[in-house]
Amino acid sequence: MKPVSEECSAPADRVLAIDLPRFLTQEHHRIHLVGVAGSGMSGLAALLIELGHTVSGSDKASTMETDRLQRLGLRFCEQHRPEHACTADLVVFSSAIKSDNPVLVTGRDSGKPVVRRAEALAAIMRAKRGIIVAGMHGKTTTSAMTAHVLREGGLHPSHYVGAEIPILGTNAHWDPRGEYVVAEGDESDGTLRCFHPEHALILNIEEEHLDFYSDLAAIEEVFARLIEQTSGTVFYNIDDANTARLCATRKNTISFGFSDAADYRGAELDLHSFSSDFCVYFQEQKLGEAVLNVPGLHNVHNALGVIALAVELGIPFKKIAASLRKFEHARRRFEIKYESERFLLVDDYAHHPTEIRATLKTARATGRKRVLAMFQPHRYSRTQALCTWFGGAFDDADRLVVTDVYPASEPPIPGINGQTIVDEVLKRGHRAATYQPRFERIHCDIGNALDVGDLVLSLGAGNIHEQLSILAADLVIAEKLRTIVGESGDVRLYEPLSKHTTLRVGGPAQFWVEPQSENAFAALIRFCRDENLPLFVMGRGSNLLVRDGGIRGVVVHPYGGDFDKIEINGSEITAGAGVKLREVAYAARAANLGGLEWMEGIPGAVGGGLRMNAGAMGAQTFENVVRVRYLDTEGNPHVKNRDELEVSYRRFPLLENNFAISATFHAQLTERAKIDERLRESQEKRRTTQPVAKSAGCIFKNPDSIPAGKLVDELGLKNSAVGKARVSNVHGNFIVNDGGATATEMLELIDRIKQTAKTKRGIELETEVQIVGEPRS
Ligand code: EPU
Repeated sequence: MKPVSEECSAPADRVLAIDLPRFLTQEHHRIHLVGVAGSGMSGLAALLIELGHTVSGSDKASTMETDRLQRLGLRFCEQHRPEHACTADLVVFSSAIKSDNPVLVTGRDSGKPVVRRAEALAAIMRAKRGIIVAGMHGKTTTSAMTAHVLREGGLHPSHYVGAEIPILGTNAHWDPRGEYVVAEGDESDGTLRCFHPEHALILNIEEEHLDFYSDLAAIEEVFARLIEQTSGTVFYNIDDANTARLCATRKNTISFGFSDAADYRGAELDLHSFSSDFCVYFQEQKLGEAVLNVPGLHNVHNALGVIALAVELGIPFKKIAASLRKFEHARRRFEIKYESERFLLVDDYAHHPTEIRATLKTARATGRKRVLAMFQPHRYSRTQALCTWFGGAFDDADRLVVTDVYPASEPPIPGINGQTIVDEVLKRGHRAATYQPRFERIHCDIGNALDVGDLVLSLGAGNIHEQLSILAADLVIAEKLRTIVGESGDVRLYEPLSKHTTLRVGGPAQFWVEPQSENAFAALIRFCRDENLPLFVMGRGSNLLVRDGGIRGVVVHPYGGDFDKIEINGSEITAGAGVKLREVAYAARAANLGGLEWMEGIPGAVGGGLRMNAGAMGAQTFENVVRVRYLDTEGNPHVKNRDELEVSYRRFPLLENNFAISATFHAQLTERAKIDERLRESQEKRRTTQPVAKSAGCIFKNPDSIPAGKLVDELGLKNSAVGKARVSNVHGNFIVNDGGATATEMLELIDRIKQTAKTKRGIELETEVQIVGEPRS
């Protein structure tokens, strides 16, 4: 037998002086794994520990997997250090490790045996009867399914699979009792040629990993080599043209698929949302019916391969069918993260156009109303090589948000990013694809578009599932909030607050809630207290500057229902917290009540007007207030008369912790003509002294010595700008949004004005506008 390393190592590697299969499976050594946190390397570490070796490993970051391995005996280091090679008898490295890695360099320089992951795995497999599952798509699922079926069939297989497999317990396991070892073969780096299995199960072959292979022919060469090196049977998918062509000339093969020519043939297929029923025939003989507990046609194909192999290994079909019924997916393979009648959130590892298309088809087949997808491209090289193909992969997504490329140790390729894929998708006529360069915002884009009946899919081999997990956790809370506000209320996730502020800036609200009644509002207050969720009340958003990171927790918008009511009783007007002050002025006019005309000039609602004792035309809110109804921090209602309330210039402390429900204002019977004259006066003042552009009203409180607008004017700061935030040319106390300004720009401009006022005039300007929220993450 040739030493394994000679056959499959890169030319630069030396021929090994050791008999690697014997070294790994019959002796005990000190072995160091470079890049041990990777999904393939961690499985190898587990096998080596179970084989009795003393295993150490290094990686730039620890993971849950390295934590688990440490509990099994791995000595882990979060740095690659030369001494790791010195103390080891063998160094194994991942294909993600660069050749100048200090452990590799030291290992090679000191003459230590240094091998690739696949070489080590191939050598271990030689100790048993090896079964390799290979192909571009479905390897992890199929190798896990094979190990599961063989295990249920009593064969005690060892296994090595590239992901966490809940039903198998771990991604890799060495079982000394069994003869077989089932392994997922990785075709990405050509090391498939290392393997000399007894059986091979080949699923599909197409263009992929074009960073490593020049073309399809180069890929097929590696598969041909594997087929040639398989000593027993090659099981192959006859429905995949490339695979069928490659296997056609070989003698010892067994085919599977739906084609009439398949040895093991699937028929009478019935695809359900989360499972599939089908019949299996061996040539003309019906073996029986199978229920596969994972969805999608592609998985039925995979299962047919597993059935063919398991039957040939002597497991009765009945036993196989019973195992398939119990099979559960690997992590990240159509993994349900949240499920209710209203929403379904699923995560999938698909990152190749063929996989994406298959997963979206499966998603579509669940019968949910819409499919919303978030996609994180994986590797710059794949994004570039397959971008046209990606363009046609998302036809089954009603809405698509693409974020940036997950590099997986690759350096960036200029001009290749998430937009590359969006451009291709749009070129193909898709109308709802957008690019979100900020990874941490992708769940917001999808979450804000969410509607009842939607299925959300996260797609990609990087860390996109983290975004879906955030969405799933928030959706649980959003659904509870929805129960609180009932049918008439509204709950939205990640509502952009730029839509709800007059300044038109601000990031998203984690939960945007519109209760319609005082009771619902009180229940919200109690819920937030119990769940430790911050609660912020936002009216018309007219005196508000929300930072770009948005507002965490619940943003209550008292709007509609109880909050929009206006009642007139004699000369008193009671208005809900959500009523615009301007509407109060006009309701008063309709009843011939005067004295509230100044409210015409304030863009906010009653709640906001109370909270800051807003004013205009020399008047201010509390000059007209008779009483206020509010909820305390426990959600209990209270009514307080004006003489019980402490109020000052632009400040009403009671509402700093409590929540306004309504206010009663007093007015005086007045001639309609007089009211109209005052309203006109207010309108005229606004029209002539204030900008019409998007603003938050006056930014600063008026200092005692001089109106803030006049001061800014005298300081010559009118028209000064930061980005799209600009001091109005009309009024110095207004900052206007010239279109697309950020809160960061607004805040910088505010800061500049304050600094100038301080240094040039010794005046400390204080903001009147309320500044809230998180800085941009
Ligand atoms: N002024 C200038 N240059 C300017 C702006 C103003 O010289 O660029 C002078 C004006 O000529 C006037 C004085 O500064 O002599 C005060 O200006 P203005 O009459 O416009 O009143 P203000 O104090 O700036 C207040 C409220 C406004 C309200 C108006 C009209 C504050 C902080 N602002 O403005 O309220 O609309 O009166 O009644 O009290 C708001 O609070 O958001 C708001 C817009």
